[in-house]
Amino acid sequence: MKCVQIKGPKTVGLGEINEPTSKNGSVVLDVLKCGICGSDIHYYDMGQPEGLVMGHEFVGRVTDPGSREDLKVGDRVTGLPISPCGECEACKSGNPQYCPATWNEAVGLSLTNPGAYAEKTSVRPDLVIKVPDNVTDNEAAMIEPTAVGYHAVNLVRFKGGENVLVVGAGIIGQITALLAKKAGARYVAIAETNDLRGQKAVKLGVADEYFNAKNENFLQNVRTHNPYGYDIVFDCCGNSAAVTNEILSVKPGGRIVLVGVSLDAITIPSALVVTKELKMFGAIAYTVDEFKKCLDMMSNKELDMLKFVDDVVPLEKAQEAFNRLTAGNDDAVKILFDPKM
Ligand SMILES: NC(=O)c1ccc[n+]([C@@H]2O[C@H](COP(=O)([O-])OP(=O)(O)OC[C@H]3O[C@@H](n4cnc5c(N)ncnc54)[C@H](O)[C@@H]3O)[C@@H](O)[C@H]2O)c1
Ligand SMILES: [Zn+2]
Ligand SMILES: [Zn+2]
Repeated sequence: MKCVQIKGPKTVGLGEINEPTSKNGSVVLDVLKCGICGSDIHYYDMGQPEGLVMGHEFVGRVTDPGSREDLKVGDRVTGLPISPCGECEACKSGNPQYCPATWNEAVGLSLTNPGAYAEKTSVRPDLVIKVPDNVTDNEAAMIEPTAVGYHAVNLVRFKGGENVLVVGAGIIGQITALLAKKAGARYVAIAETNDLRGQKAVKLGVADEYFNAKNENFLQNVRTHNPYGYDIVFDCCGNSAAVTNEILSVKPGGRIVLVGVSLDAITIPSALVVTKELKMFGAIAYTVDEFKKCLDMMSNKELDMLKFVDDVVPLEKAQEAFNRLTAGNDDAVKILFDPKM
């Protein structure tokens, strides 16, 4: 079957792999839509692992229900791409995101489980979730990144009235800003190096203000309405320039949530973390309940995630789509593949 594979650094292209079959009860689906994620962009940049079929933000139609007796051929489903063991302390406490096995065989993030940049994919039966009719394919492909932002915001336990800075206005930053507002933030600012993405966050109503992180007066500008600094800062890009700005912009005693992933070690002014008594913590993925809650919020029309979908393209346009998302001068934040186009 047709798929998109990593061919080398900053290079993706069409490939052919065997169609998946149900193994260990897995559910096989015809992919309807699959989102391109910022995490995929890290693999794309590295060009590693070569041959990887990415795609962990998917919705599809069941072609083989595997061991799921409640599903039938033709049902529309999504699923969590992770591979938690189900046995360890983390899994038993409802935190599969801490399970050491959770990324080992993740769909679209490991060579063992080719993802949904393909005509078909296969998902562990216990992690497949039926999509209600009132949630469109495009919305269902947005559940996974929505759950990432939702988890990060949940970890903060908003009281209401907080000033929030979100650094990075890719899809994760846009979603995190939206959900921070929904959780009770009084004011949400976005910092970006790409003007078009930053302005888009304001245009879409997810942020109150945008500040260009490349501006030489950025540190002054970003504190215009918050001279004492921000209560909470979300890092949604993950590099040392960004995290340094975050440490400088948060108020003493404030919190920084690291959502962005840096594959390299980064340098930060740690003395300021000490003297400001900052609380810095990571946020990874989501729990099963959070993932389901995001689907429910879309179904209840509490969340409109379609406004973030910029384009839907065939697999043949993979290189173009990655170029667009990494150009730094395009306002697109989410492009979905439709393998049937
Ligand atoms: N923790 C998790 O569970 C999780 C899940 C998904 C993605 N991620 C990570 O979150 C990050 C964001 O994902 P995305 O899909 O939005 O990626 P993205 O690459 O589309 O967005 C990152 C944005 O940060 C901006 N940026 C870069 N340097 C900056 C700086 N110094 N100041 C301000 N903005 C800056 C870029 O211009 C870009 O728009 C990625 O690192 C991704 O791997 C984490
Ligand atoms: Zn993702
Ligand atoms: Zn486990």
